[in-house]
Amino acid sequence: MRVCLETGAAGGDATDVFTLEPRLLSEIYLLPYLALAPELATVVATPGEPPVGYVLGATDTAAFEAAADERWWPSLRERYPLDAVPAAAPEAALVRRIHEPESTPPAVLRDHPSHLHIDLLPVVQGQGYGRRLLERLFDQLAAAGSTGVHLGTSAANTRAIGFYRAMGFDVWPSESSASVTFVRRLEPRP
Ligand SMILES: CC(C)(COP(=O)(O)OP(=O)(O)OC[C@H]1O[C@@H](n2cnc3c(N)ncnc32)[C@H](O)[C@@H]1OP(=O)(O)O)[C@@H](O)C(=O)NCCC(=O)NCCS
Repeated sequence: MRVCLETGAAGGDATDVFTLEPRLLSEIYLLPYLALAPELATVVATPGEPPVGYVLGATDTAAFEAAADERWWPSLRERYPLDAVPAAAPEAALVRRIHEPESTPPAVLRDHPSHLHIDLLPVVQGQGYGRRLLERLFDQLAAAGSTGVHLGTSAANTRAIGFYRAMGFDVWPSESSASVTFVRRLEPRP
């Protein structure tokens, strides 16, 4: 959760942004994956020390979103009602997201049914761990029969955008100027 918070502002540290509810980012972008798709979670860590990075994902995004609708969002909605934080707080958009979770467009899902999140603390960035984590996840997804993977990133996260291009992702056309959707095909293994 520390990794999630310290990379949560377009790849930079969000500790000073989400001061009211510092767990919220993890409740949305990290913990549901550990609950619903733990087999795809991999961490970067020195044994006995807290993780400094992770990759998370879901093989079948539509099934993951349906499972989250049933088993993840309802209890969070109770803990974070729509008025849980002031409307002007940075957390307000996250609380709205709990109440109205995004669903991925079917056109993206058709060839790219899987999705992922990857975050590394600065201490381990730029050393090849991002590539290793993605290649491991691609292998797991392909072994599960996935034809492709997608993800979203902030348009301000220029480092991540360069990384995803280097890792073989293409930009999916979108109307949003705040975020970028990337897609990449996989070779599914029966
Ligand atoms: C983005 C991130 C996952 C990349 O991981 P990383 O470990 O730093 O990247 P790697 O060192 O494994 O780089 C893998 C390849 O991408 C290339 N690459 C990385 N960043 C790049 C950039 N900005 N522009 C061009 N190429 C880049 C590397 O040169 C390397 O190429 P090679 O393997 O062919 O030599 C990591 O920096 C990170 O977690 N940043 C903060 C959190 C974040 O932004 N997460 C993504 C949110 S959507």
